[in-house]
Amino acid sequence: MNRTDVLIIGCGIAGATAALRLARNPNRLVTIVTRARDAHESNTLYAQGGIVGRGAGDTPELLLGDILQAGAGVSSPKAARILSEEGPTLLHEVLEELAQVAFDQDANGQPLFTQEAAHSRRRILHVGDGTGRAIMNGLITALSHCPNVTIESQMTAVDLITFPHHSRNPLDNYEGITCHGAYMFDRQERTVHRCLATTTVLATGGLGRIYRNTTNPLGARGDGLAMANRAGARITNAEYVQFHPTALALPGAEGFLISEAVRGEGGVLITPEGQPFMMSYAPEWGDLAPRDVVARAIHHEMERNGYSYVLLDIASRMPADSIRERFPNIYSRCLKAGLDITREPIPVVPAAHYFCGGVLVDEWGRSSVDRLYGVGEVSCTGVHGANRLASTSLLEGLVWGNRAAEHIEQLLDQQNLVRAEFDNVPPWDESGLVADADPALIQGDMQTIQNIMWHYVGLVRSAERISRAIRELRHLWNEIETFYRTTKLDDGLIGLRNAVEVALIVAQAALHNRQSRGCHYRQDSVAVEGDRLI
Ligand code: SIN
Repeated sequence: MNRTDVLIIGCGIAGATAALRLARNPNRLVTIVTRARDAHESNTLYAQGGIVGRGAGDTPELLLGDILQAGAGVSSPKAARILSEEGPTLLHEVLEELAQVAFDQDANGQPLFTQEAAHSRRRILHVGDGTGRAIMNGLITALSHCPNVTIESQMTAVDLITFPHHSRNPLDNYEGITCHGAYMFDRQERTVHRCLATTTVLATGGLGRIYRNTTNPLGARGDGLAMANRAGARITNAEYVQFHPTALALPGAEGFLISEAVRGEGGVLITPEGQPFMMSYAPEWGDLAPRDVVARAIHHEMERNGYSYVLLDIASRMPADSIRERFPNIYSRCLKAGLDITREPIPVVPAAHYFCGGVLVDEWGRSSVDRLYGVGEVSCTGVHGANRLASTSLLEGLVWGNRAAEHIEQLLDQQNLVRAEFDNVPPWDESGLVADADPALIQGDMQTIQNIMWHYVGLVRSAERISRAIRELRHLWNEIETFYRTTKLDDGLIGLRNAVEVALIVAQAALHNRQSRGCHYRQDSVAVEGDRLI
C-alpha cells in the first residue's frame, strides 16, 4: 500500500506540469502513475503542430476572440480568458525556462510562429513537427531532478477510491463523495495495489481510441473519464468529439497525423481529380476554416463522390527542401509508407482527435468530487466549447496543470487533512476470479465499439444512428461487465470496460443534444442562427 500527498494519474503535459509545480515544496510527496512502460508516452508526445504563443501585436483579447469563435458559442468566456491571459507567460516559465524546450527560431533568434486554422494571427510555436516530443523530453528531464516526485510506470488505474463507496465504515464522509486515491493494477506483477492519496489528479488524456479511425495512441481509451464517472463526478459536453480533418490514409500508417500546420504553410486540400474544394464550403477561411468545418467538408466530398480519401497537396506549394526541413517527421513517416510528399499529394481522411468534453472542473481544476482534480484532455474546463481551436490543448494542460497544483498546495497547507480514513480502505478483493482474460474477446469487443462509434456517433449523426449505437453499446456493456466480474484483471480488460462506458457517455450526450454545434453535427437538427452547417 502506497501513501502519497498527491497522486497524479497520467504523465502528459498537464500531469507533468502539475507535478513540477507541486515539487517546489520539498515536503510534498508526489506520485505520478502511468500505464505506459516509458513515462514519455502520452497523447502529448504525439502533438505535432505546436502550442499557442504570443508574438508582437498579438493580445489576449485576440486569442480569446479566436477561441470563442472556434468554440461555436459553447466555450466558457471566463475559462478562455484565463487561458489567453496566463498561457503565454507559463509557456515561457515552465516550458522554455524550466523544461528547456527550444522552440524554432529564425536566424536572428526570434520565435518562428506558424499559422493554423481559425487563428487570426501566426502565433503557434513549434519544434519542427515534433513539438510534443520536445515538450515531453523537457518535462521528464525536469521531473527527474525533483527528489520528491516518483514516477511509477506500467501502472494502470482501475478505479478511484471514494468514500463512502469504498469505506469499511459507511458513515465516513456521508455528506459527499471524497476521493482517497486509486486502485492500481501493476502490469508487471499483475496485482492490484492501493495508492492512498490526500488529493488525486486525473491527467489521463482523451478517448480517441473508441473510434475506428483516430490519431490517438493506444492508451487514449477514456480511462480517466470512466473512472470519474463511476466515482460519481459530473461529466459535461461529452457529445463534442473533435475529428481532425487530415489523418494519413496509407496502408500500415492509418491514423498518423498530418498536422494542420501543413495547411498553415500553404497546403491545399484537393479531390482525387485534383480540384480544390474548401473555398466552396468556407469562402471566408478556405483550407484554414475551423476544424469541424474542414472535417465535415472532407466527409461530405468522400460520401457524395464515393472517394475513400481526399488529397492534401503541399508538394506543389512549398520547395522540397523546405518541406523536409519544416516537416521532418511527416516526411519520413510518409516515405516509410511509400509516399514522397515533396513530389506527390498526401491521401488523408478525418479521424477522431480530441475530446472537448470531460470531467467538469472549475478554474482550479476541481471536479465535483472532493479532493479529485482533472487536468488536460480528461477534463472540461469550458475553454474548447463545441470545437477546439488548434494548438490550445497543450496550453490548456499547462495552465490547468499549474492551477490545480496551486490549489492543491494551498489546500494541503491550510488544512490538516485527516489521514486516519486511509485505514478504512479495504484491499482489492480478487477472490474467486480464476479465468484469464481472453485477448480475442477483448480485441473483438473493442473493434465492435470502434465500429459502432465511427458509423453511428461519428462526424454526421442522427437520432436513428445514435439510438442504434446506444442499444448495441448497452448490450455490449452488460456482456463486458459480466466478463469483468468473472475474469482476472488485465490492462486490456480494464481498457475495454472503460471504453464501452465512455462510448455510452458520448452516445447518450449526443442523443440528448439535438442542436448541431461545432463538432457535434446532427443531420436531423433544426438549424439556429450562428450554426455553421454544411
Ligand atoms: C495538428 O498538428 O494539426 C494538431 C494540433 C492540435 O491538435 O491542436
